[in-house]
Amino acid sequence: MPEPAFRIATFKGDGIGVDVTDATLAVIEAARKRVGGFNLQFEFMDAGAAYFEETGRDIAPGAEETVADADAILLGAIGLPTVRHADGTEIAPHLRLREQLQLYAGVRPVKAYPNAPQRLADARARGIDLIVLRESTEGLFYSAAVHRRSEVASDEEVRDVLRITRATTEKLHDFAFRLAAKRKARGGMGRVTCVDKANVFQSMALFRKVFDERARRFPDIEHTYNYVDAQALDLIRKPWEFDVLVMENMFGDILSDLAGGLVGGMGMAACAEIGDAHALFQPAHGSAPDIMGHDQANPLAAILSGALMLDYLGDRAGHQALADAAALIEAAVQAGFEANALRPMEFGGDQGTKAATGALIAAIERLCV
Ligand SMILES: NC(=O)c1ccc[n+]([C@@H]2O[C@H](COP(=O)([O-])OP(=O)(O)OC[C@H]3O[C@@H](n4cnc5c(N)ncnc54)[C@H](O)[C@@H]3O)[C@@H](O)[C@H]2O)c1
Repeated sequence: MPEPAFRIATFKGDGIGVDVTDATLAVIEAARKRVGGFNLQFEFMDAGAAYFEETGRDIAPGAEETVADADAILLGAIGLPTVRHADGTEIAPHLRLREQLQLYAGVRPVKAYPNAPQRLADARARGIDLIVLRESTEGLFYSAAVHRRSEVASDEEVRDVLRITRATTEKLHDFAFRLAAKRKARGGMGRVTCVDKANVFQSMALFRKVFDERARRFPDIEHTYNYVDAQALDLIRKPWEFDVLVMENMFGDILSDLAGGLVGGMGMAACAEIGDAHALFQPAHGSAPDIMGHDQANPLAAILSGALMLDYLGDRAGHQALADAAALIEAAVQAGFEANALRPMEFGGDQGTKAATGALIAAIERLCV
C-alpha cells in the first residue's frame, strides 16, 4: 500500500521566519525518516513585507486558493516594522487567512524545559505546562482581520470592535474541553479556565455564559474562571496551577507572550491555529528584525509548531506514524535540554539557529523509536 502523503502550503515569510522554517523542515524530515510510514509534500509560496515591497501584493497570486486545498499550512513569520500600508498598519496577510479559513482555535503551549531559563524563583516553575487557547478570528482582532474594517469616525476618533459570537464561542470552548481531555489522558490536570472580563463587558458575559453551557457536556473536566487582570497576576504567582486557559483574541495575544516569557522567551513559543477544515502552524514570534540575518534565532518555537502540525495531521487522518513523529520531536527537545545538548543563543548559549537545529537532529537520531 502506498504511504499517505500530505500537502503542506509553506510560507517562510520575513526576517528570521526564513531561518526557522528551514530548521523546521530539516527536523521534520529527520523525524519522518526515523518513524517512516508517511510522506510530506511542501509547496513554497511568497507572502509578507519583503514580498509586498517588491510587488505591491502581500501574498502571491493563487496562494490563497492553494492554502485552502492544502492539508496544512506552515508559516515562518510575516511583517517588518519598516514596511507599512498608507494607514500605518503593517503587512499581515496571515490575519486574513485566519479569517478566511476560520482558524478560531489558537493553541499556544507553554512548557518549562530543564536547563532552559526559568524566570520565576519558585521551584514549582519547573512544572509549568499549560496551554493558552486564544480565539483567533474575532474578539478585539475582528477589526484587524480585514483591512479597513475599523470603524473610523474621524481623524479625531477610531473605534475597533470586540466581537463575540455564540457560534464561534461554542466551538472554541468545545475545543478547550476536548484538548484538556486529551491532555488528561496523557497525565494532565483536566482543567479548563475561562479567562474573561465578564464583570464589565457584555461580550465577555456571553463568552462566560457559553462556557458554562458547554462545560456541562464535559463532566470529567474541571472548569474554573479568572478575570484577565487576575490571570496576568496568577501567571506570575502560580502558573503551575493552570492547564488549558481559554480566552478572547486580544487577551490571548498578550497573555501568551507573558506566559512564553516565563519559560524562556519567544523562541520557545509554538502555535497552532486550527479550524474545522484547515489549520496553520507558525511560531508565535515575529520576524525579529533586531537579530535577522545573523543566525541567532532560536528555531525551537517553529520546530515545536511543526510537531503540532504532525500531531494534527495524524489526528485527522487517523494515522499513528505522524503522531509518533510529533512525539519524537518533543522527546528530542526534552532530552536535548536535559543533556545540555541544546543551548540556544536566545538563552545565552553558544548555538545559533543552524547549530541548535543540528543538535536537535542528532538527538532525534539517538532516541529509541
Ligand atoms: N505571526 C507573525 O508573523 C508575527 C507575530 C508577531 C510579530 N510579527 C511582526 O514581526 C515584526 C517584529 O515584531 P516584534 O519585534 O514586536 O516581535 P518579535 O517576536 O519579532 O521579537 C520580539 C523580541 O523577541 C526576540 N525573538 C523573537 N523570536 C525569537 C527567536 N526565535 N529567537 C530569539 N529571539 C527571538 C526578538 O529578537 C525581539 O527581541 C513586526 O513587523 C511584527 O508585526 C509577526
